[in-house]
Amino acid sequence: MTSTLETTDLRKAFGGVTALDGATVAFQHGKVNALIGPNGSGKTTFFNCVTGMIKPDGGAVTYDGRDITGKAPHTIARHGMGRTFQLCRTFPRMTALENVLAAVPVGGLLPGLRGARRRSEIDRAMSWLTRLGIEHLAGSEARDMSWGQQKLLELAGVLMSEPATVLLDEPAGGVNPALLDRIGVLVRELNAEGRTFVIVEHNMDLVMSISDHIVVFDRGRPIASGPPSVIRTDEKVLGAYLGV
Ligand SMILES: Nc1ncnc2c1ncn2[C@@H]1O[C@H](COP(=O)(O)OP(=O)(O)O)[C@@H](O)[C@H]1O
Ligand SMILES: [Mg+2]
Repeated sequence: MTSTLETTDLRKAFGGVTALDGATVAFQHGKVNALIGPNGSGKTTFFNCVTGMIKPDGGAVTYDGRDITGKAPHTIARHGMGRTFQLCRTFPRMTALENVLAAVPVGGLLPGLRGARRRSEIDRAMSWLTRLGIEHLAGSEARDMSWGQQKLLELAGVLMSEPATVLLDEPAGGVNPALLDRIGVLVRELNAEGRTFVIVEHNMDLVMSISDHIVVFDRGRPIASGPPSVIRTDEKVLGAYLGV
């Protein structure tokens, strides 16, 4: 199995709090990977370190065999990794279409020239909105959209850069059941088209139904990894979650 995103002995502490405690992890190329674990086990910190949002204190990150440890977020994005945020980042007073366009790197264009964006980019933004089922909201301000719709909007913005690997931080958090099903189907469809996913998610039904490979964190390091069938019955995992 080829891995894509790998870390070796990744470490990060915030003051006296150890968020990542020597995490050595490999996610699989072309698969839907999940990263699960109790609250505070370091999942978001892991995403922040591998996407360059924060610098790890130690350890290494490689993406498709390339050392990306400590590289800037825009550099890592250029290598093909895109991500969403646990607390959804959209511009509340911009329309859905404007939000998706704003997510595209403008390549040094002056702000005043951004309005002169090529028609093709607008078409591409509209097609992602359509693909995610929110094209009818293209002209609505993000603040008037539901939480789940805003999460889809954020994902549309990420997909505008055509990332080979998509990291999703709690895509189902606070999302209603109908949208949740759609997110699951979308992830599988986008994966079938060749995109690798790494998904941090608490909804175990969703995780177990869409993942090929699961890594379980506890206290800043992996305690188990494998397919859903193995993870479901792993005693260390049950212990970490249920205090067994
Ligand atoms: N910016 C920060 N400053 C201080 N502590 C942080 C910061 N980010 C995360 N932490 C702490 O690091 C630990 C791991 O947090 P986090 O990575 O958000 O876990 P998870 O996403 O698994 O819930 C927690 O104890 C959290 O309080
Ligand atoms: Mg988190």
